[in-house]
Amino acid sequence: MRVSLCLPRAAKAHHSTNYAPFATVTYTRATHAAVLHDLAWLYRPKAAGNIRCSLFPGQGMTPERLEKLESIERVREGYAELGYICSRQIATAIYVAGHLGKPILVEGPAGVGKTELANTTAAYLELPLIRLQCYEGLDEAKALYEWRYAKQLLYTQILRDKLGEVLGEAQGLKESMDRLHAHADVFFSERFLAPRPLLKALREPSGAVLLIDEVDKSDHEFEAFLLEILSEFQVSIPELGTIKAMRRPVVFLTSNNTREMSDALKRRCLHLYVPFPDAPLEREIIQARIPEIPRNLKYQLVSFVQQVRGLDLKKQPSVSESIDWARVLLLLHANELDPDMVRQTLNVFLKFEEDIQSVDVELYGFARQAKKADVAHA
Ligand SMILES: Nc1ncnc2c1ncn2[C@@H]1O[C@H](COP(=O)(O)OP(=O)(O)O)[C@@H](O)[C@H]1O
Ligand SMILES: [Mg+2]
Repeated sequence: MRVSLCLPRAAKAHHSTNYAPFATVTYTRATHAAVLHDLAWLYRPKAAGNIRCSLFPGQGMTPERLEKLESIERVREGYAELGYICSRQIATAIYVAGHLGKPILVEGPAGVGKTELANTTAAYLELPLIRLQCYEGLDEAKALYEWRYAKQLLYTQILRDKLGEVLGEAQGLKESMDRLHAHADVFFSERFLAPRPLLKALREPSGAVLLIDEVDKSDHEFEAFLLEILSEFQVSIPELGTIKAMRRPVVFLTSNNTREMSDALKRRCLHLYVPFPDAPLEREIIQARIPEIPRNLKYQLVSFVQQVRGLDLKKQPSVSESIDWARVLLLLHANELDPDMVRQTLNVFLKFEEDIQSVDVELYGFARQAKKADVAHA
């Protein structure tokens, strides 16, 4: 059923309703945060009676959550309060994805904060985080749902007497099978269903943040299967019927770029590339994670790591390694970068012996340069 609504600033928004189990209002197009805000207000639970508001198809952002995403600046501040420092690019992606109800495909080197971005989003929007860790060989049974075979078997054993009654005077194998078949539904019901992360995320009544982590580790077949879920936000279980997300989850897919994702997957997602941070952003991140770090040490350490990233290494140190290194240096009571201490702790942020040797050669030059960076900002 379609209805016409008089909307203050969103005369062109398309909408439709259906009544099961309660009316849902969905909008397929909206262009401005102010419009979203108006709609959210208009359909707030009190004004709308039993109409639940959904600003985009199937996406159940509540007005309170939309308010938290009302501007890019608000996103940045809110995440910073939770210890996550967003570049403007990241904050913009969160803002847009939140309003459009699109999944975000976050790509970038390991350790730049992709997984943490989903964690922080769940904390910020006060939604449960449901995580699907991808790996080679991951299939629908582990990602979506499976039947609890052991429990089904146990029940058939316990209910042996009852099954005897059901079979009764049945003549021959065929008749027994027919009688059993009539009761098969009992064993393929909710009671024996084991929901896995994707199904759990669709069935969360208040919505969820769904993190499909390291999707590049999964096989091409699994990626194709994900496409279906990400476009429809519903799944069909032959024995139970179709399950549609009541509130579309906020979806993050992360990839460390070990393989290229398909165009089809990219098309369904907003794309966000998170590179290694520049020096000011990395200093902010370290400050957020280790507030007690001395100022000089922070400047020098970040400058040193940034220079190391300029070398041709097997594995570049990432943000997580900078943080680990800062923690170790603090533990050693360092106030500044001392070349000898750097040499002793290179293994904290470099994972290959040949990388350690490459940096060792440059160590004094980098440390000198790092001191200058500190002085320049004094
Ligand atoms: N922008 C950031 N703000 C705060 N912490 C960050 C940021 N980026 C990375 N980190 C820190 O780096 C660590 C590694 O991040 P993670 O999300 O596991 O990386 P990835 O998933 O990209 O491999 C996290 O524990 C987090 O504390
Ligand atoms: Mg990760």
